Amino acid sequence: MTSNTKAYRASIFHLLDDPRYKKQAHEFIDDGLLVVCDGKVVSVGPAAAALAALPPGTEVTQFDDGIITPGFFDLHNHFPQLSTVAVYGEQLLGWLNAIIPEEEVYKIPEVATSRAKIFLKEYLRAGTTTMVTYGSWAKESVDALFSEAERLNMRLVAGKVMANRNMPAGITTTDPESDYEDSAELISRWHGRGRLAYAVTPRFAISSTPEDLHSAGRLMRENPTVYMQTHLSENPDEVKYTLDLFPGHKSYLDVYDHFGLVGDRSIFGHCIHLVDEDFARVKESGAVLCPNPPSNMFLGSGLFKFQKAKDYSVRLALGTDFGAGNTFSMLNSMENSYKMAQLDGYSLSPFEAFYFSTLGGARALSMDDKLGNFAAGKEADFVVMDTCCTPFISWRMEHAKTPLEKLFVLMMLGDDRAIQRTYVFGELVHNRDA
Ligand code: GUN
Ligand code: ZN
Repeated sequence: MTSNTKAYRASIFHLLDDPRYKKQAHEFIDDGLLVVCDGKVVSVGPAAAALAALPPGTEVTQFDDGIITPGFFDLHNHFPQLSTVAVYGEQLLGWLNAIIPEEEVYKIPEVATSRAKIFLKEYLRAGTTTMVTYGSWAKESVDALFSEAERLNMRLVAGKVMANRNMPAGITTTDPESDYEDSAELISRWHGRGRLAYAVTPRFAISSTPEDLHSAGRLMRENPTVYMQTHLSENPDEVKYTLDLFPGHKSYLDVYDHFGLVGDRSIFGHCIHLVDEDFARVKESGAVLCPNPPSNMFLGSGLFKFQKAKDYSVRLALGTDFGAGNTFSMLNSMENSYKMAQLDGYSLSPFEAFYFSTLGGARALSMDDKLGNFAAGKEADFVVMDTCCTPFISWRMEHAKTPLEKLFVLMMLGDDRAIQRTYVFGELVHNRDA
């Protein structure tokens, strides 16, 4: 420990394992101390002993009503939907027709830059420190997003949307090579730079020709450490249209599989209408499923099968799918996950919900050696949740005795108001009370 050492005193909560399979998978320390140095976790433990071990003069910040937890992961959202969130009245395909033309404006660097600042700031206000994001079709949108994330030293995985059919002119290409070339250029500029990583991003099978999906597969083969994100089995009309466009495939997942897009770097958004065979293939490949309950409720897309995901023990992490999801907040996504699971006969515990938004997210990105909980040496991305963030939540908390009760109240009643502070690599990047 050096003079850069800082300590944070509050309740501390993190996951050590997947609570779906392990009974005691979390640690909750009522009066804890998180010690951080040079952007990394030094230790976490009960405050009484840890305070005595600190170097003399170490700055200790205390949060009397706080619960410190790892920064949230949002594994699916859309930057160029900042200006179209909350569009009324449609399900997926009609809604896309309504909102997609607006994505064109993100090709203008000044527009993309100013909006990237708003977008990432809102996520930090909501306690999200790592996310996987769709840019627009224009590579300028992704340059703007990565530049701002780099300035904030924030972990970001993002990619330019690949699309070459069934999209309005202005956000698609007629040149079959351009999606490949623009993506390759962005990979060489951004992937692995600081805390940034690239995701090859075919929007969905409907908006790509077989040649375009082939290009996506080629990018994955040529760049084995990049991620791949796309939409999968979100809505019944979408599934049907996909199988009309790609006849002869046994399922929607099988279309992506044919082009080499199903592997352990693949993140599939939604996955509501999967069949058993798909779950088995996802398990075998190591791919990640990412339900986005705020979006799935908003668009009426259906209910993600949490029980099946558990039965097949597939990797699972949550997203918001902002701007079909009408929130930046993973607490809201956890709340909607709970309600969605209830409708399908599954009681999602707060430990599971927080797991899917922290350590589960890190595991989904194979970043759990660096992030997801407070093991010594991990990167210090964390949030302070305020259990007294509104007069009523404060009053309700007095009736919550156990960690489970407290976390459940926060996830059912809380949102960005409950995020008192957000830290990225040990630095304060959001202070609600400033
Ligand atoms: N499928 C293809 N594009 C989109 C999108 O932008 N949002 C959602 N929710 N689904 C999609
Ligand atoms: Zn989406």
